[in-house]
Amino acid sequence: MSIQSAISPVPRRALPEQGNGWGQLKGIMRDYAQDDVDWRRGRSPLYVFFADPEVLEVAREAYAMFMSENALGPAAFPSLKRMESEVVEMSLDLLHAPEGAAGSMTSGGTESIFLAVKAARDWARAERPEITEPELLLPYSAHPAFNKAAHYLGVKARRVQLRADFTADPAAMAEGVTASTIMMVGSAVAYPQGVFDPIEALAAVAQERGLWMHVDACVGGYTAPFVAKLGYPVPAFDLGVPGVCSLSADLHKYGFAAKGASTILYAEERRHAFQFYEFTDWPKGLYRTPSFAGTRPGGAVAAAWAVLNHLGMDGYLRLNRQLMEMRDAYIAGIEAIPELRIWGKPGIGIVTFGSNVLNIFAVAERMAQRGWYPNVVAKPQAIHLMLSLAHEPARGEYLEDLAACVNDVMELGGHIESSIRPVTY
Ligand SMILES: Cc1ncc(COP(=O)(O)O)c(C=O)c1O
Repeated sequence: MSIQSAISPVPRRALPEQGNGWGQLKGIMRDYAQDDVDWRRGRSPLYVFFADPEVLEVAREAYAMFMSENALGPAAFPSLKRMESEVVEMSLDLLHAPEGAAGSMTSGGTESIFLAVKAARDWARAERPEITEPELLLPYSAHPAFNKAAHYLGVKARRVQLRADFTADPAAMAEGVTASTIMMVGSAVAYPQGVFDPIEALAAVAQERGLWMHVDACVGGYTAPFVAKLGYPVPAFDLGVPGVCSLSADLHKYGFAAKGASTILYAEERRHAFQFYEFTDWPKGLYRTPSFAGTRPGGAVAAAWAVLNHLGMDGYLRLNRQLMEMRDAYIAGIEAIPELRIWGKPGIGIVTFGSNVLNIFAVAERMAQRGWYPNVVAKPQAIHLMLSLAHEPARGEYLEDLAACVNDVMELGGHIESSIRPVTY
């Protein structure tokens, strides 16, 4: 008897004997969703990136149009091949890639990062064969997807302490380089505090040491270029920076595309070539794929293409203007509560705040009791907001509840216990 069946008396569900009508199933699914976080009312500080109802509809219809098609077969579906190429070209252009740059669409940030690490590993095998135990050097704030990729790919990953402002420390990163280091990473922006790493300085170190420099712009890739055009301070972070070899940017985050869409871009086609996988020794002959996946959902490619073309430069500028004005209003509201402090200098739509005088997790716990899904950071302890436009109508209520929860916690002594834990699963 498995542990699961020993502790769970609930009978396992079997396929229904007879099928059900869609109308009935829709109702059941709506029931299932009753306890889901109400992201449409701005209650989820992560997971969903909302632009406006029209963009959502464009993505939904485009996804449905190509839902059955498979991007594994570009010869069978030249439409998807063309859409993917156009998405990659628009992305390379937006992110200042030099002539000769190349890239692919993937299922998300984790796959884009996996492929960058795989390409760097295989590049090092070809160009630095003396390295037998390749290492990846990460700022402490880099996303765990790098460790996951390193784990799968037999590469070691080491993390280097940040500066006091939570950005990567180029001097410490330089010191961390060993004879086995193949790749260095910087984030634009890093998830925990939403700050830009100093990509130019990191890339200069990488270039000097002959390392592969990767920029993780999964969060910033499709918002920072517009935020910069609007006049907000954005340091150079993209494929235009000398020494940057590859960059990951997620369409399904601030690109506002449907889920399952990211890009992995390379400054040179020869680096992109290391991303591919080929196998021939089986009955069917050559099997060659650009990414980790075999079957790739046509819907995700189509929705990304449709949203990029629907919004265009003016649409993204409009949304990012709204986003940044809203973000600044959130920051002002948080800073108006004397017990709270913003950690780091928010670069785009991520705002992370904590406190020196109270347990911020106790505030998050009370916010959760008021219906705000909690998202917290461990070091330093903080509440984390990854804002999109679903958060605008909720702003007033959020800030009022936040002030009330801070008061409640202070009345109980500030540094009180909380059941909230910094976990992601
Ligand atoms: C900076 C950064 N990189 C990579 C990822 C991974 O992206 P995904 O969840 O799409 O795999 C995230 C996710 O939040 C992220 O914030």
